Amino acid sequence: MPSRLVPSIDLASSRDESVVAALMASSCAFVTGHGVADSLRSDLTELSRAFFDLPFQEKARVRWPGDGYWRGWQPLFDAPSGEGDDSQPLERYEFHLAPGSDSSDEGLLRRSAEFGFWPSRPEGFRLVWARYHAALARLASAIVTSIAKVLDLPEDEWPDWCEKQFANLVVNNYLAQVDPPPSGQIRQRPHTDIGGLTILWADDAPGGLEVRMPGVPGWTAVEFPPDAFLIQAGDLLARWTNQMIRPNIHRVVNPPPEVAACSRRMSIVYFHYPKLETVVTPAPSCVSAERPAGVSIDAGAHLLSAVAEPGARYREFEDTTSGT
Ligand SMILES: [Fe+2]
Repeated sequence: MPSRLVPSIDLASSRDESVVAALMASSCAFVTGHGVADSLRSDLTELSRAFFDLPFQEKARVRWPGDGYWRGWQPLFDAPSGEGDDSQPLERYEFHLAPGSDSSDEGLLRRSAEFGFWPSRPEGFRLVWARYHAALARLASAIVTSIAKVLDLPEDEWPDWCEKQFANLVVNNYLAQVDPPPSGQIRQRPHTDIGGLTILWADDAPGGLEVRMPGVPGWTAVEFPPDAFLIQAGDLLARWTNQMIRPNIHRVVNPPPEVAACSRRMSIVYFHYPKLETVVTPAPSCVSAERPAGVSIDAGAHLLSAVAEPGARYREFEDTTSGT
């Protein structure tokens, strides 16, 4: 059953105000009617599964070197990955598509050519990843534009969050937990994402996403309706809207022990940021006497500070509320 507590918006028939109201109330929402073909998502899932099933040494040819923005293959189950020493039962592959407006297959192949972390197989991997990235960039732009219109965010700043956006496309492969995880370890600790919008799809394997819902005690398990993405507000969007839209707190839990040994889980995550040279400043329309302006923040420095901090892919949330 889809999570009834998480609002769901059909973008094909809803007004801009609907998605903004949902994010202001809940910091996350399902969206349908998004225009991203189901076949594209299933193609990306299948090709990524085939990549993850390659031998370690073959995947290691496209491994993230440990500096610069995250990209390529990152085996977090293998501690010397460069991303901290608290190894997790997770691997991921991550891709950044060079900016550009040509989203034809020829254009996408050209724009993705300079990315230096393409595996030689499975066949067709690169083009499908580039197609998906381009499709989600359009979706992110449409949602951000709705937010910007409704909240009257400065129009000269919209392009930095839309056509000039920076984004990483990630596929996570959570390994089946053949052995019980160490005490206290869960698949992802409570955190908020550091960017603008996160656009997520996940399979229905046990051991999945849980979110905090304002006014709802404890954690809400997220079960995806058919063809839906979950959009989640991140730190930078919260900063731009001066916390009128708050960042979504979420975690990924372990599967129940009785099914853990066959609980491989895959998720596809589009991490949207504004152009990394952007200094994110609270929009004047979101500032009032009751809501004084927060401090500005440099988007690129914000991202690189998370890369540089061992194990801190996300800004970890100190869970001080009850009901966990
Ligand atoms: Fe996250």
